[in-house]
Amino acid sequence: MSFSRKILSSLKQLIGRKNIVILKKTLGITAINRIDACNALISQLSGTTYLEIGVAQGNVITKIDARRRLGVDPSPKPSSLEKQADIIYFEMPSDQFFSHHAVQLFTDSPVDVALIDGLHEYRQALRDVDNVLKYLAPGGVIIMHDCNPLTAVAGLPPADRAAYEQHRKEQTTFQPNGPWEGDVWKAIVSIRSTRKDLKVFVLDCDHGLGFVTRGTPDSSLDYSAGDIDSLTFAEFDANRSSLINLKQPSYFEKFQAQLSNQRS
Ligand SMILES: C[S@@+](CC[C@H](N)C(=O)[O-])C[C@H]1O[C@@H](n2cnc3c(N)ncnc32)[C@H](O)[C@@H]1O
Repeated sequence: MSFSRKILSSLKQLIGRKNIVILKKTLGITAINRIDACNALISQLSGTTYLEIGVAQGNVITKIDARRRLGVDPSPKPSSLEKQADIIYFEMPSDQFFSHHAVQLFTDSPVDVALIDGLHEYRQALRDVDNVLKYLAPGGVIIMHDCNPLTAVAGLPPADRAAYEQHRKEQTTFQPNGPWEGDVWKAIVSIRSTRKDLKVFVLDCDHGLGFVTRGTPDSSLDYSAGDIDSLTFAEFDANRSSLINLKQPSYFEKFQAQLSNQRS
């Protein structure tokens, strides 16, 4: 760990995670990650319920300051969650979770902040957004991880990615290939093309953090489902700013101010 990261980590413990965005701003650091964003928004909304689709090792959900935390992942519950018994874990794919459990869990206590970080396939990411929207509290926020792949390999859809990794295993000693965001970016293009009731933008940090809220969008797109299917990574790479409404990390502050105005 670098010296500056050590300092930041100690300060986080000292001042509490929900103030980390303010601290970073004071230090002139504008890049935030998904943990900071979720905690800042939960604090701002005085939210109680956090939902995470795709928990993996629990590196995010265990660091979220919310009274009620729910995680969904088909993999067995990670050991990191054993120490935090209040986290409710559903060992199943998100579609199953929404069809069997969501109504009972969220009808009276809707979701304030959700992180969608499950299967990196755009149709699944879209379904996850649609499902969360059914249970999103007024003024609530959905954050989508992995919306901004930087290379063609990182942007491969799951089926192609599996074939690519298999090929590499057969050819050479297997090596991890770095980040993989899949084609979640297409979910952003789809929402911006079909939903005139949702505002969406992507922050250029932490693999691309997409923010979805209810409201009239400032700008939209006009891609059909067929167009979106056939969009290539090269087209994305050449037009990423306009396709996913990419914003600098410092835009997060403006977004928070807008959220406050909407609620007042
Ligand atoms: C990138 S990891 C999540 C990382 C975690 N959110 C974090 O930030 O540390 C993606 C996870 O999604 C899970 N996953 C895959 N398909 C899923 C689905 N249909 N529903 C929910 N989770 C899924 C995988 O098992 C994997 O653990």
